[in-house]
Amino acid sequence: MMIKHLHTLIKHAHTNMRLLITGICIVTGLTACRQPRIFTPGELWLDNNGTHINAHGGGMLYCNGKYYWYGEHKIEGSAGNVANVGFHCYSSKDLCRWTDEGIVLKVEPEGSHSDIEKGAIMERPKVIYNKKTNKYVMWFHLEPKGIGYSGARSGLAVADAPTGPFTYVKSLRPNAGYLPANYTDELKSVPVSAKQQYSGGGLPQHPDSLNIVMRDYENGQMARDMTLFVDDDNKAYHIYASEDNSTLHIALLSDDYLSHTGTYFRLFTGRFMEAPAMFRRNGKYYLIMSGCTGWAPNAGRSAVAESIFGTWKELENPFRGNDADLSFHSQSTYILPVEGKHTQFIYMGDRWMPGNAIDGRYIWLPMRFEGDQPVIEWKDRWEL
Ligand code: GAL
Repeated sequence: MMIKHLHTLIKHAHTNMRLLITGICIVTGLTACRQPRIFTPGELWLDNNGTHINAHGGGMLYCNGKYYWYGEHKIEGSAGNVANVGFHCYSSKDLCRWTDEGIVLKVEPEGSHSDIEKGAIMERPKVIYNKKTNKYVMWFHLEPKGIGYSGARSGLAVADAPTGPFTYVKSLRPNAGYLPANYTDELKSVPVSAKQQYSGGGLPQHPDSLNIVMRDYENGQMARDMTLFVDDDNKAYHIYASEDNSTLHIALLSDDYLSHTGTYFRLFTGRFMEAPAMFRRNGKYYLIMSGCTGWAPNAGRSAVAESIFGTWKELENPFRGNDADLSFHSQSTYILPVEGKHTQFIYMGDRWMPGNAIDGRYIWLPMRFEGDQPVIEWKDRWEL
């Protein structure tokens, strides 16, 4: 009897031990999530399937405790510089372990004559969540197939869940029939440019192309490299390289984020900025951008403003140290406020590989500030 009791005790103890051990496993599992999150900029970044993450020119959405990373899915070779597959999404709770959520906006088949047919150029997708409509809204840079970069359009797609599927809605050139709010009297007297549109990539500066806004008044403003930004009051803005890439526009979107309102401002006239990424810190607005040299890297740009439509003050190249004049061989795509808070920021950039597009690498680096000046320094490895 005694022996039997002892046996039961031992059995239960064993079970309890197992539970305890399981408990420890669970705790250990959680702890593993909280292990230092190590980032290795420029190396291969593997997803849950052991495949290099394929989300270039990406943007991030933080919602319900998860990060969703959307980007261009590239294929091998230079063929990967146009859209063959669509936009890819990955999710993560900790920014270091990424789950493949698949292609969330697929290209349409060749010959379909869709705006997003295979072979079109689809770049820099950004997704924002609209609280009123409960929709996930994606805007991206779209160049219909076969016309290089001369289309300069914005594509729109919408989904009911962060992981899609996104339904393609339309493409447009923003703000047709509206002049920018800061269209100056001085500009009014500049002749409308007779020049054809330049095709994108590394553009020369054209002093004769100043009144492109008026040239494009009727059909809408050119929009290439772009980002989205949602402010604390839930107003959303579309920021895009316009006017033959010479000038950035910042445009207010409608309350449902599905159209432009006609309210927009020109920024950094004739400065040829692209790859814009916006964030807010201590009540101020910041932009990180690049110059305009196609896939080749150049020195970064930065700017600050007290209010979103400006006045914007251009600051210095935020990159410091060796290869700062090449932004550490990267180009900005997004600035990530960690956990959606406005306190800690990660610079997200692309190291493009136009000869083998799928091999493009991700350069993520922590950002610090010297007064208003954002500063980004190279690190082989760093922890969050
Ligand atoms: C870059 C731009 C990329 C892509 C590339 C094509 O300047 O940031 O998104 O459009 O040009 O040359």
